[in-house]
Order: sequence, then C-alpha cells, then structure tokens
Amino acid sequence: MSVPLHTLLSIPPLEDASRDPLLVSSHVLEWYGIHRRILPWRASKAQIPNPYHVWLSEMMLQQTTVPTVIPYFHRFIDKWPSFEALATASLDDILHGWQGLGYYSRAKNLYKTAQLIHTQFNNHLPSDVTLLETLPGIGPYTAGAIAAIAFNKSAVPIDGNIIRLLSRLYAVKDPLPSCLPLIKKLATKHTPKNNCGDYVQGLMDLGSLICRPRSPTCPLCPLKNLCIAYQEGNPDAYPKRLEKPPKPTRKLNAYWIENGEGSILLEKRPLKGLLGGMILTPTSCWDNSNTHSPELSCLLKACTLTLQPRPVTHVFTHFTLVVDVYGSSYPLESSNSIGPHSTYFWCPPSSFKHQAFPSLMKKIISSLQKTI
Ligand code: ADE
Repeated sequence: MSVPLHTLLSIPPLEDASRDPLLVSSHVLEWYGIHRRILPWRASKAQIPNPYHVWLSEMMLQQTTVPTVIPYFHRFIDKWPSFEALATASLDDILHGWQGLGYYSRAKNLYKTAQLIHTQFNNHLPSDVTLLETLPGIGPYTAGAIAAIAFNKSAVPIDGNIIRLLSRLYAVKDPLPSCLPLIKKLATKHTPKNNCGDYVQGLMDLGSLICRPRSPTCPLCPLKNLCIAYQEGNPDAYPKRLEKPPKPTRKLNAYWIENGEGSILLEKRPLKGLLGGMILTPTSCWDNSNTHSPELSCLLKACTLTLQPRPVTHVFTHFTLVVDVYGSSYPLESSNSIGPHSTYFWCPPSSFKHQAFPSLMKKIISSLQKTI
C-alpha cells in the first residue's frame, strides 16, 4: 500500500500555487507584515519610501550582502543626503566612500546617474521600469526592484533569492541558466497588482531569512504548503546548476616602493577597467604578460630590492589573482622626478586614510605589516 509522504511527515497536503497564483502573494504579504526586517533604506509601515534611499541601497546591494551594505548606506546618506548632494560631490570622494564595497564601476555609475537625475530629471527618480533601465548601472533587476519598492509598481525583479524560491516552489528540474525563461514566467504570474513593494521585499526577506541557499528553515516558511521541493524533502537540491568550470588564475607583480622620506609610491588606476579610478601600489600590466608601463620600468630601474616577494591572493568574479608583492627603496634624490600629470605619486602612510584603496590594497598592506 502506498502512503503519501506528507502524512508520514505530518506535512499538510500540497496546495496548488499554479491554480491560484494570488495564494503565493497573499501568504508572502501576510508573513512580511509580521516578520519584515528593519533596514535603514526601508520605509516603515507608516512612511512613504524615499526613492533616493531605495536607489542608493539597490546600487550598493548589487553583488553585496545586506550586513556589508548597512554601514556604507549610513555614511553615504549622512554625507550626501540627496541626488543633488551626490551629483555635486567629486568622483574621488565617492570612490573613497565606496572603498571596500568592491565592483567600483558601480560607484562610477552611481555618480553618473546622480548627475543625470540632478540635471535632467529635476532631482526626481523616474518610476517607469523602461526609463530606469536607461540609467547607468541599472539593469532589469535593479529597475524592477526600484519601481516596486520606491513606487509600488507591479514589477518583477528576478535575482538569486527569487530564482531559488521559485525553483523550490515548483521543483524546477531544468538547471540554470536554461530555466530562467520559466522562472520569469512564474515570477510574472505570481506578482500582485497591489502592494508590490511589500511583496518584493517579502520575497527578499524570505530568501534571506528562510529559503536560504543551504539549510533552509522550511517549517517556518509561509509557502511550505505550496512548495513542491519541501514536500519532496529536498529543497537544498534547487536551483539545479551545471558544474562550474574552475576559475582561471592571473599573476601580477606589485611594488611597495618607499622613498628616503618614508613615502610610498602609489598609482591611480585608469578610470576604465578593473578597480578603475582606485589607488593601488604600482603593478605589472594586468594581462598576464609580466610587462610594465614605460614610466614604471624607468622607476624600477632606480630601485633596490629590500623584501623578497610574498604572494597575496584575491578572488574576483571571473578569476583568482595572485600578486607577488616586492618591497624596495627608491633614492630620495630622484623622488621628484615624477611629473605632475603622472598616474604615479608619493604618499606618506599618514595620508593613506584619504586614498580610495580597494580591498586588494588593504590585503597588500597587511601582508607587509606581518613581515615588517
Ligand atoms: N537585496 C537586494 N535588494 C534588497 C533590498 N531592498 N532589501 C533587502 N535585500 C535586498
């Protein structure tokens, strides 16, 4: 005799999300009303959302977690409380404020969008998804999230949380990325016409608090009676993924060069490309060629090696970088040979706090501090 699994596990029988799409949003909204997270960019129940706060938080939250973003969000809002304030700041100040958040092209896009909103939209963020998507750094997910959260538009932002939740709800067997059209269809079908801001934030909170990538706490989930993966007992198995190819490794040399006054040679990276506009010790070229810019080649010729190279590893999205950090000294009498328009400049360690250092630079500094 076959016994349905749910009776053995005392799981109630499955409700049918596909037959009544509003079931999902009504459960999510009810749960969100009780369990919503208090986040600094989030309007309380009695407040109207502030579009500047929503936009800034969504830009910061791309590729970054909520706990990491919170202190950055507070500092930005204190220093630049409006589109106008941000638009009239300097890019160097914004990059400095962004240091450690990573993906620095986001900070440059943030600045460009603030300037557009200030000069062309009279400091008002548009609410239309299509128009939002024309702004720098705003793709379909961010446009949908902003439209829903700031303006309560019925939009469908699809991120990792929502893919996970829907692929579990329907036990989607097709792996990523080929399952995305189906996920999009399911997301559209379940999006309510009203209260979309709360619904979207409810999905975000469910994805973060309950329907987590590993060890989801399904018994607490308001969607458990709709969720096929839960009924099957294997929510961890979703979303299905193809095996990822291993990340390639790139190698670089970095040079910690000290002059006779204790200043360190730094380089402002070109605005375009990885870590664009950020400040780093001089490095060999980033193309695995182990070559140097002509200016750096000249400077290195005058240096004396003081520390054998030590490796620092840093993982970027698409590759792992292994940097060999060389310590060396540069003759004081030649220190002012660097021209005023050079990308290289001397900086005393007491002024490091004013520099827009990426996390990689902080790793380089701490690797040297361990050995000095
Ligand atoms: N992840 C992306 N956007 C978010 C938001 N507004 N709140 C919480 N987590 C998020």
